[in-house]
Amino acid sequence: MHPTLSNAVKAARRAGGIIMRASNDVGALKIHTKNYNDFVTEVDRSAEQAIIETLRDAYPTHGFLGEESGMENADAENVWIIDPLDGTTNFLHGLPQYCVSIALMQQGQLTQAVVYDPNRNDLFTATKGRGAFLNDKRIRVTSRPKLQDSIIGTGFPFRDFGHLDTYLAMFKDMIRKTAGLRRPGSAALDLAYVAAGWYDGFWEIGLSKWDIAAGALLVKEAGGIVGDLEGNESWLESGNIVAGNPKVFGQMLQVLAPHLTETLRSKPRA
Ligand code: IPD
Ligand code: CA
Ligand code: CA
Repeated sequence: MHPTLSNAVKAARRAGGIIMRASNDVGALKIHTKNYNDFVTEVDRSAEQAIIETLRDAYPTHGFLGEESGMENADAENVWIIDPLDGTTNFLHGLPQYCVSIALMQQGQLTQAVVYDPNRNDLFTATKGRGAFLNDKRIRVTSRPKLQDSIIGTGFPFRDFGHLDTYLAMFKDMIRKTAGLRRPGSAALDLAYVAAGWYDGFWEIGLSKWDIAAGALLVKEAGGIVGDLEGNESWLESGNIVAGNPKVFGQMLQVLAPHLTETLRSKPRA
């Protein structure tokens, strides 16, 4: 394993330990509401601190973009993008579908990714150019050729309802044109499942960088394609993302295309 990746794994496992200890008594946690349906607990914060401390010890000059603590050292050449607990709503309800997500951006390129599911002890990792792995076994996206036979993951809008009608129109169309849709509630794990070949594709609107940075590198290193809703490169900035095996990806874009509003189209790079 690449030495930088093994430090990220160490950080993810530390965070996973904090999360799992707290999962035994979620009722005792103090929940703060950041925004409508957007919750944070001391678990999210202490997991993020543990990740940042572990990585800062190894890489004192690196920057950090963490969901809970924001941006630190933004001008650094290497910036870690961290979601300490992706799937907080599930976690708070005792539903065991959440993960730790850590990615490294080096001079604008994603180079390392860890998505760790502490409930199943599933460790998804990737290094740019070296493939994607689940617990040391190489993983690949599916080769299923038809969207009609595919399982597609997604996420429903539940905080910002600005695109709700557009999303529901997409959803209705996708239901008719796939073998089934899934919404387990952790975007980082959804992307890892595309990489592992458990879903054939995934799409969601309005995600944040920390939800998708690691999962997207997993998909690419597993032989899949990642794009925005028109298949272009603005997915990390816009948070509007489509991922899939190379055959299904294009067919997903065709289903989404008639529903795109101006704000959901690709933005030219600034
Ligand atoms: C959320 C999860 C969810 C997705 C949301 C995300 P959080 O992350 O990834 O699946 O639908 O949009 O914000 O808040 O649990 O870290
Ligand atoms: Ca998240
Ligand atoms: Ca989170």
